[in-house]
Amino acid sequence: MAPIVDCAGCPSASINTGFAMGEGPTTAPIMFIGEALGEQEAVEGRPFVGGTGKMLRMMIHQAGIPESMFYITNVVKCRPPGNRTPTPTEIDHCSLRYLHKELSHVKPRIIVPVGDVAMRAIIPDSRVGIVAGRGYTFQSKWGPAIPIVHPSFVARGNPHYWGITVADLGKVKAAGYGKPREHFEEKFILRPTIDQVEEVVDKILRERLRFTFDLETIGERETLNIMCIGFAWSPSHAICVPFLTRGAHEYWKVKSHEEEAWRLLCSLFDSDVPMVGQNIFTFDIPKLLEVGVVVKRTDSLGNSRAHDTLIRHHNIATELPHSLSFLTSIYTDMPHYKLMVKGAGGMMWAPDEIMWTYNMRDCVATYIADQHITEEMKEAGLA
Ligand code: URA
Repeated sequence: MAPIVDCAGCPSASINTGFAMGEGPTTAPIMFIGEALGEQEAVEGRPFVGGTGKMLRMMIHQAGIPESMFYITNVVKCRPPGNRTPTPTEIDHCSLRYLHKELSHVKPRIIVPVGDVAMRAIIPDSRVGIVAGRGYTFQSKWGPAIPIVHPSFVARGNPHYWGITVADLGKVKAAGYGKPREHFEEKFILRPTIDQVEEVVDKILRERLRFTFDLETIGERETLNIMCIGFAWSPSHAICVPFLTRGAHEYWKVKSHEEEAWRLLCSLFDSDVPMVGQNIFTFDIPKLLEVGVVVKRTDSLGNSRAHDTLIRHHNIATELPHSLSFLTSIYTDMPHYKLMVKGAGGMMWAPDEIMWTYNMRDCVATYIADQHITEEMKEAGLA
């Protein structure tokens, strides 16, 4: 089948088949962008109507997004021979000629690149691939974009990505309705003084504020060292209490301050105030116990006071992944912050400030995820 339009200037105009512009209301707040037409799409001249297209439409339906809310199109409007991935020249040529015009005309509130090719076309500087970047909000030239994996990836031996994609589409839907996940300003205490540590601990204990915490460590058993412990007591507020800086230098220059910092943190871990962390039952709590910190698991009334977001999320969504990176992608609008450490040379080389900020981001991400999980547990009658 020959293209029905004259794509003059495109080097593949004579070898590619079919042609389909996007479809859906041009006032739609959500715009899905796929790669290129498949066989069925080329025959019918419509995007996403073949096998994987139907899968995508089912997931969109399951997420509760009505057809009136989305416009759906492709980076490349025709079908390259043998279903091959479009070449960079085809992508550049076709996006300039059609996609960029569709984007400026529809002006969606949220753009959804479907798969790696579309993600790279819309967010060329994302620094992550589709599997790590899916569900996160990126800023593109045309506004915010939340990429999702391509349905062909789900079909090709990754069935659990069906549920993950439906969860991502929940975030897309909220953004489409103009209610994206709330953005929280970071009010982080970096390089605290001993007085600041005391103020925070007093506040949490006095106001009985549910808090999250996270340890960064090096070494194992006899050589185990706690580099820092982060705490968050709201979606914005966090403190990182360091003990060692990079190169294993002591953070506290005055010995009595270090002892005081440990005494203050021990009073938090040994209190009745509810505390939450990601994977704390197998990592953080055993590590604290190893260095001699008493961690109270139940309050004085015998109620559990330690909660693990990994286990809590497992209870409400067994079929989904439970890593903090995944929880962050579906429950928060935080940027893909794992990249900040990677970009600074990895765990071994990143400067202290980057590690400490990363530690506090883990704490606030856990805090926000915990709030959402609690709501979902209530809805399911589990809390
Ligand atoms: N895959 C795509 O990326 N787009 C379609 O239109 C169909 C399948």
